[in-house]
Amino acid sequence: MKKIGILFGQERSFPQAFIERVNSKNVKGIQAEAVTIDKVMQGAPTEYAVIIDRISQDVPFYRAYLKNAAISGTAVINNPFWWSADEKFFNNALAVKVGVPVPKTVLLPSKQMPDDTTGDSFSNLAYPLDWEGIFEHIGFPAFMKPYAGGGWKNVYKLENREDFFQAYNETGQLVMMLQEAIDFDSYFRCYGIGGKHVKIMHYEPRNPHHLRYAAKHDVSDAKLKEMEDLVLKICNSLGYDFNTVEFAIRDGVPYAIDFCNPAPDAERTSVGQENFDWVVETAANFAIEKAKAQKPGRDNLTWGTFIQSAVKKKKLA
Ligand SMILES: Nc1ncnc2c1ncn2[C@@H]1O[C@H](COP(=O)(O)OP(=O)(O)OP(=O)(O)O)[C@@H](O)[C@H]1O
Ligand SMILES: [Mg+2]
Repeated sequence: MKKIGILFGQERSFPQAFIERVNSKNVKGIQAEAVTIDKVMQGAPTEYAVIIDRISQDVPFYRAYLKNAAISGTAVINNPFWWSADEKFFNNALAVKVGVPVPKTVLLPSKQMPDDTTGDSFSNLAYPLDWEGIFEHIGFPAFMKPYAGGGWKNVYKLENREDFFQAYNETGQLVMMLQEAIDFDSYFRCYGIGGKHVKIMHYEPRNPHHLRYAAKHDVSDAKLKEMEDLVLKICNSLGYDFNTVEFAIRDGVPYAIDFCNPAPDAERTSVGQENFDWVVETAANFAIEKAKAQKPGRDNLTWGTFIQSAVKKKKLA
């Protein structure tokens, strides 16, 4: 029997529906359940062939548990090592390299110094920073947001440099990015699953929360196909099995805005019944496929093409 486990936090619709959907398919030798964690011993395998991780971004103990599970062969969705390594600014840099349009973005040192550092810890940092050069490059209006994070926390829209400095002063020890605002005609949020399945959801971030997925944008089939290809390119470059990619379309160009979402919102009440059914069904089928292919004792994680080609080049050198 191969078990598929799901590890989750406060969600109350997706995990339960996922377990039911997998089990209702009655695939011989495969069963889904909520993960149970008790003693976590180094190098000891878990009872799960596959674990869908929906929460380790908030629970460091779970992240460490999942890495320990992965080394004994559990296929963890998403790869906990890559998830620990990347962040939004690096992902933007990777998007630039693989030809995905992204807004102009710069990284800013935190306004306040990290704990246990002093001015002496920053001999390498120019002071003052070339703010003029930064503002000239990005322009206004601009967005400022944490280089790692989600849930619209500490996301600022800024009209001018006075706005900027006022907001920056509030950001404490957070590392922020300053980003060109895309004045978009339409906005889409897309699930990407298994590096091959894409669901493009019409989305309107300017609507109140409960109406964001009720949007309906005018969009050609060619544009939908272009976004689908970009979602796959992003997810395969990063190596995420389960992710959402958001696009803001300006003058026909889909700019990737937010695409580091390895535990994307999948609650029925936020995404709506149709999108919910798609994500439950597609995640269930993908997890079953992963469980069938999983080989105990080996690495069964997905690694993105960025890492894969780096390793290949090293081997050739
Ligand atoms: N460069 C930008 N141009 C236009 N709009 C933007 C830009 N950056 C962010 N936004 C707006 O701000 C919202 C929140 O930003 P973003 O998605 O990057 O943050 P987040 O904290 O990761 O949110 P979540 O993970 O909940 O989606 C976006 O949905 C979008 O409406
Ligand atoms: Mg977002």
